[in-house]
Amino acid sequence: MGSITLKNVSKVFGEAKVIPSVDLEIKDGEFVVFVGPSGSGKSTLLRLIAGLEDVSGGQILINGKDYTNNAPADRGLAMVFQSYALYPHMSVRKNIAFPLKMAKLDQSVIDKKVGDAARILNLTDYLERRPSQLSGGQRQRVAIGRAIVREPSAFLFDEPLSNLDAALRGSMRLEITDLHHQLKTTMVYVTHDQIEAMTMADKIVVLNRGNIEQVGSPMELYKTPRNIFVAGFIGSPRMNLLDGAYAKSKGAHTVGIRPEHVTLSKESGLWKATVSVAEHLGADTFLHLNVDGIGPMTARAGGEFGATYGDTVYVTPDDSKMHRFDDKGLAIASPLTGA
Ligand SMILES: Nc1ncnc2c1ncn2[C@@H]1O[C@H](COP(=O)(O)OP(=O)(O)OP(=O)(O)O)[C@@H](O)[C@H]1O
Ligand SMILES: [Mg+2]
Repeated sequence: MGSITLKNVSKVFGEAKVIPSVDLEIKDGEFVVFVGPSGSGKSTLLRLIAGLEDVSGGQILINGKDYTNNAPADRGLAMVFQSYALYPHMSVRKNIAFPLKMAKLDQSVIDKKVGDAARILNLTDYLERRPSQLSGGQRQRVAIGRAIVREPSAFLFDEPLSNLDAALRGSMRLEITDLHHQLKTTMVYVTHDQIEAMTMADKIVVLNRGNIEQVGSPMELYKTPRNIFVAGFIGSPRMNLLDGAYAKSKGAHTVGIRPEHVTLSKESGLWKATVSVAEHLGADTFLHLNVDGIGPMTARAGGEFGATYGDTVYVTPDDSKMHRFDDKGLAIASPLTGA
């Protein structure tokens, strides 16, 4: 069991109110991702849950019981950090076994648990190696193994993949998702990478200056962002946000158009645009455009779209997928977006 409830949780460092007040419900078995820009309070919130920081106010419940003032070790949670923090002089086997040794379990129990964790993480062939003889991804798996053997009621991850190169990050992303399917244990995962958030989460929590901007499934946040902040943060490349006369004509202060929600043509369309940068990725083409009377805009075409710097193209936004925001940046509920 691993439900976590935050009630009116706040954190002040000296003068700085880093977390003004957060209420959040994490269900048993859920994969929850905290996402937000640097300094938004993601790590602080995770460390408050772990007990590595004391709250300034509010309550933290684990499985319905108040753990607000309990030491980290009493909370039954396991934390995995960006830096693997492995013991360099110990083998992989000993690193994974370490928390079990500390808990003075029988050697036969330790061997079984370490063997099981190594199998789940594909580390069986590496158990006798030292951390220095492993790749970054393998080291991170050892750190995860050390968390798994403790059989925590929840795993807390703080940017566990940010030390890895892009290809390895992609494969570790799949491995952690698969691990969650196998273990079905609650996972709380901090990242500033919105692709990790979109691909891994059951539920995303978008943080901004210590406040929760929105909580929802990846597709809820993608389709119905509550405000401009969430709209701009979820989705890659970013949603185009257009002010001015066009937005006014749509009854909004700002309209949001995702790059994938336009039609591109070389012959005709609503807007005429000049290509400033063309990114040809094979599966997609991203065009960075200067749209006449509108301004800069990014557009995506599926597959190869043969346009290059300086070319003229025509852009037509899909009205049914357009987002509208008022002068405070809040989404305007509308039949256009279904919001
Ligand atoms: N021990 C501390 N003392 C004072 N201020 C702190 C302390 N720890 C964090 N902060 C401040 O709290 C804010 C939130 O920091 P936090 O580390 O939670 O951000 P984050 O969202 O994890 O950012 P990043 O993506 O850069 O890791 C920042 O403004 C930071 O400077
Ligand atoms: Mg952080």
